[in-house]
Amino acid sequence: MTTPDFAIAIMAAGKGTRLKSKRPKVLHEIGGRALLLHVIAAAKTVVSAEHIYCIIGHESDRVRTAVAHTGIQFVLQPEQRGTGHAMQVLKADFELSGASLPKHLLVLSGDVPLIRPETLAAVHDIHLRERAAMTILTAIPENPTGYGRVIRATPDGPYVTAIVEQKSLMPDQLSAPEINSGIYCFETRALFSHLNALDTDNAHGEFYLTDVAAMLVSEGKRVVAVQADSVDEVLGANTIAEMMHLDAAMRLAAAKRLMAEGVTIFRPETCVIDSEVEVGPDTVIEPYVQLLGKTTIGSDSRIRSYSVITNTTIGDNVTVLNGCIFDNSEIANNAILGPYARLRPESRIGEGAHIGNFVETKKTTVGKGSKANHLSYLGDAVIGERVNIGAGTITCNYDGVHKHRTTIGDGVFVGSDSNLVAPVTIGDGAYIAAGSSITEDVPEGALALGRARQVTKPGWVTARKASANERKSC
Ligand code: UD1
Ligand code: CA
Repeated sequence: MTTPDFAIAIMAAGKGTRLKSKRPKVLHEIGGRALLLHVIAAAKTVVSAEHIYCIIGHESDRVRTAVAHTGIQFVLQPEQRGTGHAMQVLKADFELSGASLPKHLLVLSGDVPLIRPETLAAVHDIHLRERAAMTILTAIPENPTGYGRVIRATPDGPYVTAIVEQKSLMPDQLSAPEINSGIYCFETRALFSHLNALDTDNAHGEFYLTDVAAMLVSEGKRVVAVQADSVDEVLGANTIAEMMHLDAAMRLAAAKRLMAEGVTIFRPETCVIDSEVEVGPDTVIEPYVQLLGKTTIGSDSRIRSYSVITNTTIGDNVTVLNGCIFDNSEIANNAILGPYARLRPESRIGEGAHIGNFVETKKTTVGKGSKANHLSYLGDAVIGERVNIGAGTITCNYDGVHKHRTTIGDGVFVGSDSNLVAPVTIGDGAYIAAGSSITEDVPEGALALGRARQVTKPGWVTARKASANERKSC
């Protein structure tokens, strides 16, 4: 087996006590994606998945299941006794498996999710150039409280003497501005040779990985600090508030990217846009819109306020009026939807179709130019082209046990307040009279009426009132 130059370890075993949540910290989401998945995505830009070792412990099965699809390796840290202990467990795993050690180990934290591939590349380049035993990514945030501080040998030089955790800061170090990001590059053998010497004689009673810095220095090895270009990308997420700060930063970055590509977003700070969303130029996004998951929108479309659109593909020149909810659906060019339309999964809305207010669709295809403008439920239906679905039409698709299909041909006119009791097929060009309950197939070109005949009794009310008055006066 050849010795790989680089491997990556991601520390993700901690519980995240400060979150006060049942969910493991690294599975909390920002920008619509688990923290750990962000870190893995960055790691994969540096090495391939088989050289990425994720240290898991708290709720390890849940964490493993959530990220297994990335193809990375897992190392179990059943008891979480600190970041230094996480590395001890990794070392033991290498020894047990007999896998050859990578020359260098890039160590990432599962709760530092905004790290950019460019920054990881810079850390690893400087590490090699400086022939360092340890290279630490740092930043100078507005408020360094809570982070470990990097103490440099000289203010302007790259060399570090120690990392001191918040609770161990001496009075004269309290104002030290430069924080440890929890992201490092190590010469693997240098790191592994000091792990056994770590102790838990500190405020948290944990093995601190950060103590390795001073140990390497005392041995005459080089420990180097590299400051990140942007502070946000190295911020940790220890509390829900910190996480939401990162979430806002990430979503604003997504909005800015789209704006740079020609999308108009009014009040972008009010919109929630996931990082994988794509939008074409000249599309307008109004305030308070959420575009989630793998949503794609074409050009020249407009999404009005309060719409929540998830994993949906929208074409060009589409108008989505206020308050729509779309989930896992497809909308072709020139369609108009809403206000308050709901597309449940597998809805396919054809070119130029109209889906109006309080219309709900599910597993339904609506053909080109068809219209369902008001108050309908269209489920398990295939609707042809140029169909008019009158107000209040309901596909009765469920018999209490099974779901059934409604098929409506091209050019059909369904009068208002009709019930289409599935399974049922309506042929091309047929008309359904308003207020019908259709239980049988309707052939092409036919008119179907399915309602009780009206009975009108002239003068009935007047006569009834007169007889009631007579009875009262007796
Ligand atoms: C750590 C650093 C601190 C740095 C900060 C940056 C130490 C001792 N301190 O502090 O200098 O400023 O990160 O964000 O390293 N983990 C494990 N196993 C464990 C303990 C933790 O895998 O036994 C994982 C956690 O899941 C987390 C990461 O390691 O993803 C960091 O642990 P955390 O407890 O958050 O460390 P901090 O207190 O933030
Ligand atoms: Ca942390």
